[in-house]
Amino acid sequence: MSAQDEHKKAVAEAALEYVEDDMVIGVGTGSTVNHFIDGLARMKTRIDGAVSSSEATSQRLEAAGIRVLDLNSAGPLPLYVDGADECDAHRRLIKGGGGALTREKIVAAASERFVCIVDEAKCVPVLGDFGVPVEVVPMARSLVGRALVGLGGMPEWREGVTTDNGGLIIDLRGLRITDPPALEREINQIAGVISCGLFAARPADVVLVAGPGGVRKLG
Ligand code: 5RP
Repeated sequence: MSAQDEHKKAVAEAALEYVEDDMVIGVGTGSTVNHFIDGLARMKTRIDGAVSSSEATSQRLEAAGIRVLDLNSAGPLPLYVDGADECDAHRRLIKGGGGALTREKIVAAASERFVCIVDEAKCVPVLGDFGVPVEVVPMARSLVGRALVGLGGMPEWREGVTTDNGGLIIDLRGLRITDPPALEREINQIAGVISCGLFAARPADVVLVAGPGGVRKLG
């Protein structure tokens, strides 16, 4: 296992501390969260189930014997655990490297506490280098691309990728994001945008960061 993967595993194990008996837990998507699911599997008899943010996560939860619930029947969730692609000191995030940003944003919005789990490499002073994933309705791809150029960025279509919602992904590159809530609002207002991977209006409540010195907490 690489050092980065060791860190992903360590931070996922640390997030298990936030799980309480009888909870229905919101579960994100990605390699860090996969370690969290492995840990959750060990305590599956203590929880009521999970609400998933992607088909991939649903499959992994079900394979681990964890009941997957529909958000509409589960109602507000006490806890959401997910990874991120970038995180700043205010716990604002870029997410969507795995293309699951829309469902991730929905589950985050439905949760009282969002615990984000990252390795040190994801922590940045200013968001932007990763690019901002934007999910779009297919017929609006070019329209949204032109609008994103108008915001000063360089849109790059993630060709060949269709999301769980039937959307396409455009990665908005080349921006140094000094006002993440403002950019999130601007992108969301473009006709044809389903959602964007900036999590600034609703940042994480807690970020756990794993590095060579162990796991530290922001928030
Ligand atoms: C998926 C995401 C992931 O949380 C993000 O890409 C981080 O992934 P990983 O844990 O594999 O580094 O937003 O849409």
